[in-house]
Amino acid sequence: MSKQVLVTAALTYANGPAHLGHLLEAIQTDVYVRARRMAGEDVIWMWAADTHGTPIQIRARKEGIPPETLIGRSHAEHLADYTDFQLSFDIYYTTHSPENKAHCAAIFNALKERGHTAVREVEQFYSEQDQMFLPDRFVKGTCPNCKSEDQYGDNCEVCGATYSPTDLIDPYSAVSGDTPVLRSSPHVFVKLDSYADYVAQWAKPRAEGGGSDLRPEVRNFVKSFLEKGLNDWDISRDKPYFGFEIPGFPEKYFYVWFDAPIGYIAATERWCTDNNRDFDSYWKNEGGDTEIVHVIGKDIQYFHCVFWPAMLHGAGYTPPSRVQVHGWLMVNGEKMSKSRGTFILARTYLDHLKPDYLRYYLAAKLGASQNDLDLDMEDFANRVNADLVNKLANLASRSIKFIVGRLGGTIGAPAEDAAPLLETAKQRLATVPALYAEFESAKALRVAMEIAEDLNLFMTEAAPWKLTKSDPERARAVNAAAVYASKIIAAIVKPVLPGWAEKIERMLKLESPLTFANAGEPIPPETVLGKYETLAERVQKKTLDAIIEAGKQRAAEEAAASGDADEASYDYEVEALSDEVTIDAFGPIDLRVGKVLECNSVKGARKLLQLTVDLGPLGTRNVFSGISKSYPDPAALVGKHVAVFANLKPRKMKFGMSEGMILAAGASDDAVTVIELDPRSRPGERIT
Ligand code: MSP
Ligand code: ZN
Repeated sequence: MSKQVLVTAALTYANGPAHLGHLLEAIQTDVYVRARRMAGEDVIWMWAADTHGTPIQIRARKEGIPPETLIGRSHAEHLADYTDFQLSFDIYYTTHSPENKAHCAAIFNALKERGHTAVREVEQFYSEQDQMFLPDRFVKGTCPNCKSEDQYGDNCEVCGATYSPTDLIDPYSAVSGDTPVLRSSPHVFVKLDSYADYVAQWAKPRAEGGGSDLRPEVRNFVKSFLEKGLNDWDISRDKPYFGFEIPGFPEKYFYVWFDAPIGYIAATERWCTDNNRDFDSYWKNEGGDTEIVHVIGKDIQYFHCVFWPAMLHGAGYTPPSRVQVHGWLMVNGEKMSKSRGTFILARTYLDHLKPDYLRYYLAAKLGASQNDLDLDMEDFANRVNADLVNKLANLASRSIKFIVGRLGGTIGAPAEDAAPLLETAKQRLATVPALYAEFESAKALRVAMEIAEDLNLFMTEAAPWKLTKSDPERARAVNAAAVYASKIIAAIVKPVLPGWAEKIERMLKLESPLTFANAGEPIPPETVLGKYETLAERVQKKTLDAIIEAGKQRAAEEAAASGDADEASYDYEVEALSDEVTIDAFGPIDLRVGKVLECNSVKGARKLLQLTVDLGPLGTRNVFSGISKSYPDPAALVGKHVAVFANLKPRKMKFGMSEGMILAAGASDDAVTVIELDPRSRPGERIT
């Protein structure tokens, strides 16, 4: 029997709907799961919603509904979104389940029996008005360091200082504004340090007798924690808290991060019960050959790579054999943000576009590294249109349509002069399963692209469309080669685009579903191909713009409902900050004070103004500046002191030399403001 593989994606937090960041992870997981299944392995994907903790409690209170109702609604939304994105999970369960409660108790009791828990008093802010202890992020106040107001209880977003909530000046509750008081209560801890040696051993490569396959950056992350020493971990929260009560500790609840990963186990138990499978072979198989693979974002590595293996080991459960960590999804170069409207929900995307395109775009950019991935709408459209439509779909479309439309539909044998290309394609196909199994989907899809490029070139050179009458059998053979290649390509893209592969399976009348193993097999020459079914259509930039627009609307609603206090709202967007540099980078740029002596519009150039700028002892400069849409009355600039990029190499323009650049702010031509300097500044003086 082949070995068992259990895969998870992180459990989506149930205080709101799924967004495209969640989809990055889900698609990465799905492609991995589908590819390993296609390679014949026994893979299950256990998934659930993460339903406990303060943010859910607070949102439910705000909406005036019980938390159970909120998490029920979120669960239904997640399930519908994830199903519509064609994700092949085997179960989408919930952490608010009897199975989870039982496993939390079992794990906790095991740790306690081993003497690895402790109870200590903890002093924390309590709000009388909110009737609850306030987690760090729910206390705000003035930064003790830089005195900026309205900063969080754990760190200052203005100066970057970290501190504890009790250090804040004038603390208040982010929930109600109430002034909290300090209150002490006993908390339950796990003595993580008891597991430091185990975690160190686990984090070593399996090939070297360790317990896990981790990327070097993840291994280093774990190492850095171990070097600092593992602190006791506070796993209890006082009532009222939405979660599970800790056995033996009335009115104390498990902290959400204790019960959340145990949700992976609970989902498995439920699925095993429903499907008559053996639960113990998955989770009670430490040292066995069951693989447990977690896919997560880089923000939750600590939980998955330090405390999770420790707890599992401590309680006799199977630890993960691999943790795959991905980077952040950015939208148009910026962190997704509700206030900037780049926070796009899964459903908003689905309202406008088929899941295939996002699946393809993300998979074509994803590898095993933790690099952030930018969803750039321009690039999205180009990539889908150039790769998917013009290369991959085009090859199948023109060959199948040709054979069906002009040659009666029978495929025949592929052209002999294409044999080397098809042989190469098969060899390339053989490299694909291993790439997917290493989370290198971008590289796997690149293989499909190379095959398509070769065969498209072959088609262009062989020009079968010229041969329909003169040599129809040659035309058939040339097209048959392209159909062969399209079959191999369909297998390669199948984990990413399952619908694509199904269409190819139908058109080619394949008897069994495509796998990596059967994709290179010959197609019987007497096969009569089915009518062409559209594999991919061009994505319009305006559709993507519409998604961003609709996203803005939903994001604003969502920001209000979830009570996220973490983002100020601006009604405009700015570019993301560039990479950090040292002062040296500024050195070569010579900025000077300039006084505008003359300013006129330029005949024949709608965007330009021509300025004569006085640089004092340095003389005058002639400068063309593309700001005329923002300054319909050029004379308004005369007399102003402006910042001039003065050592910029002069540039010859159609209308004359431009000898420098005027500094201005603003993103679009018609909303530019020239940087005006204090009129006391003297022309020619350097700006530093
Ligand atoms: N509930 C916890 C996970 C518990 S796992 C036992 C959680 N939930 S989450 O909804 O906030 O995030 C779920 C996953 O989505 C995490 O792996 C997180 O890193 C990922 N992402 C959330 N936003 C993301 C992006 N913008 N980009 C990429 N992934 C992101 O954390
Ligand atoms: Zn500060």
